[in-house]
Formats: sequence, structure tokens, C-alpha cells
Amino acid sequence: MSDGSAIPPRAYRDCAGEFATGVTVVIAEHDGEAAGMTLNSFASVSLDPLLVLVSLGHGSRTLYAVQASGRFTISVLGREQREVAIDFATAGAPFPRRHVTRAYDGFMVVAGAAATLQCILRQVVRAGDHDLVLGIVVGITHHGGEPLIFHRGRFGGLVADAAVPPGHPIALVEGAGW
Ligand SMILES: Cc1cc2nc3c(=O)[nH]c(=O)nc-3n(C[C@H](O)[C@H](O)[C@H](O)COP(=O)(O)O)c2cc1C
Repeated sequence: MSDGSAIPPRAYRDCAGEFATGVTVVIAEHDGEAAGMTLNSFASVSLDPLLVLVSLGHGSRTLYAVQASGRFTISVLGREQREVAIDFATAGAPFPRRHVTRAYDGFMVVAGAAATLQCILRQVVRAGDHDLVLGIVVGITHHGGEPLIFHRGRFGGLVADAAVPPGHPIALVEGAGW
């Protein structure tokens, strides 16, 4: 079938799970209540204006808080933050307050994250059983360190074989800095 409905869900998840990603936590606060979830569907979309994308499942408490407050943060986890990723991925669990702090601008972020992006909600696009949330980045913090990687249901680190060759347009030292 052309719409993919003949593909067994398990086979699809195994297939899509070959795509290794970093791991983030999205946090939003509404009416004094914080909600947060582990998320790997993060993409940096536009440089002018600064736009990022996250995909949040319908029924998620975090999606509700993002839409109700019009603000959210994205915390990029470091390799030693596997426990944070697991705590924020437990459906129905109380908000794990011990993992969070306030950024310089008052937004709530994961303490010790490799990087954080503070965002104002720009647009929501319905996409099947998820909503694609686009945010304008209004603040950042950047500490760096080893990234936490997710691949086929497992957490780990990155083994880098080589840097992008100097002089190439996507090299970090020159050009676009992508
Ligand atoms: C590595 C990883 C990545 C995830 N990525 C997403 C994602 O991109 N979008 C999503 O809706 N759920 C994602 N989840 C599942 C949510 O973290 C999980 O459903 C969470 O409990 C939702 O919390 P909430 O209902 O309190 O918002 C991911 C889970 C893990 C472990």
C-alpha cells in the first residue's frame, strides 16, 4: 500500500531506529506547572530567523504546556546524563525537578546540559499523531562536552573518526560553521 500502512510497526521502528541521534529534553511551564519530555526529533531549521523544530506526540503533557504557555526550552544532554533521559521519558511520572535549573533568562532547563536553547513558540503544524512545533530561539547557553547518543534503543557516546576537512564549506573552523 502506498501510504505505508502495510509496513508492520515493529519493522518500521527498527528501520527508523538505525538513524542515530543526540538526545534532548524539552521543558515548558504553564500556570506554575512544569512538564518535560525526552526527545530526539530536534532539528535546527533556520539561521535567519533562528528557528528550531521539535515533534511532540499528541496527548503529551509537554505539548500541552508548550501550546498553553507559548514558550519552551530544549536542553541537549551530555553523555553522563542518561539517567536524565530515562527520567524524562517515563510517561505519567512526576516532573523530575532534581534535574532542572533556571537559565540566566529565567527559562527552566536541564542542569549541566551540553547546550540549551530558550524558545518562543512560532508555529504548530499538525502531522499525523504528532505536532511539529517551530520555535524562535531567544536565548542560549553552551557548555559543550561529550554528547549523549541514541541508537536502536541504546544510549552511548560518539566515536569520532575524523573532523570535516579544513576548507570544506561545512567545516567548523571556516565557512558556514554547520
Ligand atoms: C531517546 C528518546 C527520544 C524520544 N523522542 C520523542 C520525540 O521526539 N517525540 C515524542 O513525542 N516523544 C519522544 N519520546 C518519548 C517521550 O519522552 C515520552 O513519551 C514522555 O514520557 C512524554 O512525556 P509527557 O507526556 O509528560 O510530555 C522519546 C523517548 C526517548 C527515550
